[in-house]
Amino acid sequence: MTTSTNQFLKPITTKINSNGNIEIGDCDLVELAKKHGTPLYVLDEKTIRSICKDYKKSFEKYPKIRFMYASKALCTSAVARILDEEGFGFDTVSSGEIYTVYKSGVDMSHVLFNGNNKSYEELELALKLGVGRISADNFLELEMLNEIAQKTDKKADILLRVTPGIECHTHEYIQTGHLDSKFGFDLTQIDEALNLIFNKYKNLQLHGLHAHIGSQIFETSIYPDEIDILTREISRINHTYNIKLDEINIGGGLGVKYTENDVPPSTYEIGQLVIDKLTESIKKYNIEPPTIIMEPGRSIISTAGVTLYSIGSTKQIPSGTKYVAVDGGMADNPRPSMYQAEYSAEIANKKETDKKERITIAGRYCESGDVLIKHIEMPVLEKGDILCVYNTGAYNYSMSSNYNRVQKPAMVLVNEGNSEVIIKRESLDDLIAHDIIPDRLKK
Ligand code: LLP
Repeated sequence: MTTSTNQFLKPITTKINSNGNIEIGDCDLVELAKKHGTPLYVLDEKTIRSICKDYKKSFEKYPKIRFMYASKALCTSAVARILDEEGFGFDTVSSGEIYTVYKSGVDMSHVLFNGNNKSYEELELALKLGVGRISADNFLELEMLNEIAQKTDKKADILLRVTPGIECHTHEYIQTGHLDSKFGFDLTQIDEALNLIFNKYKNLQLHGLHAHIGSQIFETSIYPDEIDILTREISRINHTYNIKLDEINIGGGLGVKYTENDVPPSTYEIGQLVIDKLTESIKKYNIEPPTIIMEPGRSIISTAGVTLYSIGSTKQIPSGTKYVAVDGGMADNPRPSMYQAEYSAEIANKKETDKKERITIAGRYCESGDVLIKHIEMPVLEKGDILCVYNTGAYNYSMSSNYNRVQKPAMVLVNEGNSEVIIKRESLDDLIAHDIIPDRLKK
């Protein structure tokens, strides 16, 4: 079966150039580090467009498919433009994400608003800006949404977020579809919600069901399992209430390859499984072919991103570990310390020596847990070498912080030899921009 871009460890344009340095998007990484400084997030445009094409091709036999990029993976205005150009909509989870895609010129009817505790103000903004779908997560939200829609004389177009009771094997913190989850309605609560929607909340228009099982998923069976449950429920609801729900959102979750040991499924495999199961379920449950919505986040943007760091101090523990420190760490990539996530890295500049050693790459933050990669085989590193950590496009910048009051790195988009800054490096003044000294404390 055809390989898809999420199955690559490195951006698809990665190569070694005639100087012996790593190049991505035809840009020499050592030159990029010199020009833009480190740490530096680098995003390869061709890799992003390539995975979008994989998704579209994988589902071309089912025209009623819609892709909504889960912008929580990486939400910036330039990325929104690229995904919009590729024909993707957007799954958003905050007014910040909604505002970013809105200001990027996205057609707001292609935007979905998710979340387990959306505020009144966020729901107001979503309705005001014309967000296409709101995935209603709980009873309070139904009530608030109806009230806001009524006030503004609108109908809120909603899906019901449900927890289908499917477990997947991923880190416990990123599982969401199991029964004891903070997200969505339990299947046994659907009818109570429907009674409210049909009999009390006249300003809500229900279109279908939504579920999301988890993230960094390698098991292919969860999607057919999910489709079986959701089509069964759609059929039951349509027949019981004599209505025509016709949308099923199956969430995101497809995994990526952080290390050589990771073997994520391809979009083509998932596409085939989803379409086969749908064909079967449509017959089995006697429903019209529904619109299927998918919300991939990580698999769209992770592989396209790398982070460049400069090597600084080293410390050899007499009893064993050699620590090599870089100028970033847990604030620009919290995943290793948060989820014990593993990453792969290489030295971007040419090394004269072939001598290798086993080291641990430590971050610069004041915390022992700030380790990016444990026990990795690398050429002997010296101050000033440039380290390239792969697969940092998703959930790195979007989860970054200013811990230790360190400025967030810049992000550049690379393509055909050009590098364009799409997020400016923060300055020291940016760090204190929101500080206020009360008059009585002023000097
Ligand atoms: N849809 C919903 C409703 C979600 O909650 C998520 C992710 C997605 C789609 C996108 O899932 P993806 O395709 O990216 O797997 N910070 C964690 C990941 C948390 C994912 C939360 N929800 C990490 O760094 O691994």
